[in-house]
Amino acid sequence: MSLTVTDLRVHYRTPRGEVRALDGVTFTVADGEIMGLAGESGSGKSTLGTSLVRLDGRMRHVGGTVELDGVPLPVADSAAMDRFRFRAVSVIPQYSMSALNPTRKIGKMVAELLASRGERPDRAELERRLALVGLPPDVLGRYPIELSGGMKQRVVMVVSTLLNPSLLIADEVTSALDVSSQKAVAGMLLGLRDEGLVTSMIMVTHDISLVYQIADTIAVMYAGRLAEKAPADVIVTAPRHPYTRLLISSLPEVGVRQAERRLDGIPGTPPSLLDPPEGCRFRDRCPLAFDRCAERPPFAEVAPGHSVACWKAV
Ligand SMILES: Nc1ncnc2c1ncn2[C@@H]1O[C@H](COP(=O)(O)OP(=O)(O)OP(=O)(O)O)[C@@H](O)[C@H]1O
Ligand code: SF4
Ligand SMILES: [Mg+2]
Repeated sequence: MSLTVTDLRVHYRTPRGEVRALDGVTFTVADGEIMGLAGESGSGKSTLGTSLVRLDGRMRHVGGTVELDGVPLPVADSAAMDRFRFRAVSVIPQYSMSALNPTRKIGKMVAELLASRGERPDRAELERRLALVGLPPDVLGRYPIELSGGMKQRVVMVVSTLLNPSLLIADEVTSALDVSSQKAVAGMLLGLRDEGLVTSMIMVTHDISLVYQIADTIAVMYAGRLAEKAPADVIVTAPRHPYTRLLISSLPEVGVRQAERRLDGIPGTPPSLLDPPEGCRFRDRCPLAFDRCAERPPFAEVAPGHSVACWKAV
C-alpha cells in the first residue's frame, strides 16, 4: 500500500467564513511506513487524518487528490468512500474512546459493525486480536462503562482494524492515557503493523517524543500546511525547518527522559485560518524570516525522503 496525497485542500464552512484548515498538503506514505503527524493544536492534523476517510457535513473538499496504490480515493464523495472505509482506510478518530455507544456491549457493537460490512464475527480471530492488545475475551460481554480508559482505547483499536485496513489513521490515541498506558498503546499500534493487520499507519499526535519511538517518519504541520517531513531520526537530530527546530529544542531529551513532555513554549500564535496571510505561514514567529518569505515556499525535497517548506532550507 502506498498513499499519495497531492495539494489536498479542505475547508470548514462557518458563519464567519471558510476556515482553510488544510491548505495545500502534499506527501506520500510508503508501503509499511508508520508516519507520525505532529504539530500544535489547531494546525490541521485531525482535519488531514479524517479527510482521508470521511468528510463530515461541515467539511468541504476544495481541491487536491488522494491515491492508494495509484487508485484515486473519492474523498469528496462520502457515499463512494463507503466501500473503502475499514478495508482500505480506517480511522481511530480523536476522542473516539469516549464516544463508544454506552448502551451496546462490546461484542454486539463488533457484530453490528461487521454486519454493516457484510461480514460475520469469527470468535476465535476476535479473541486473538483482543489478546494482541492485552484484552481478555470477556470484554465482549461488557459495556463501555465497565472498561478503563486504556481498555476502551484498545477496544477501539481492535474495532478499527477488524477488516485489516491498508492504511490506519490513529488520531491522538494516547493523549487521554497515563504515561505507562501511552507507551503500551503505542507499542500495540506497532504490533498491529508488525502482525500485518494494518499495512501502513499515520499516527497523529502532539507528542513527538512518543511518536518518535514507533514512527519511521515524522511530518510536522503548521497552520494547515506541512512544514517538514523526514525519517524520524532526521526530524529529531537534524531538522531543517525553523518551526521543527523550535519544536525539537523544546524537547531536550527526546525519546529518553522527556517522554511525557508536549510541544509548547514557542512564542507567538499561529495565524487565523479564516484569513491566513500570503507567503510562509510561520513568518510572524520565525527567527530567520526575510523578504522572500512573503512568497509561499514550496514543499521541496532537500534530500531523499526529506521535504521542507522553507526558503532557508532549499
Ligand atoms: N467543525 C469545525 N468547524 C470550523 N472549524 C473547525 C472545525 N474543526 C476544526 N476547525 C478548525 O480547523 C483547524 C484545524 O483543526 P484540527 O482539529 O484539524 O486541528 P488539530 O491539529 O487536530 O488540533 P488538536 O491538536 O487540538 O487536535 C483549526 O483552526 C480549527 O479551529
Ligand atoms: S520560509 Fe521564511 S519565514 Fe518561513 S520558515 Fe523559512 S525562513 Fe522562516
Ligand atoms: Mg486533532
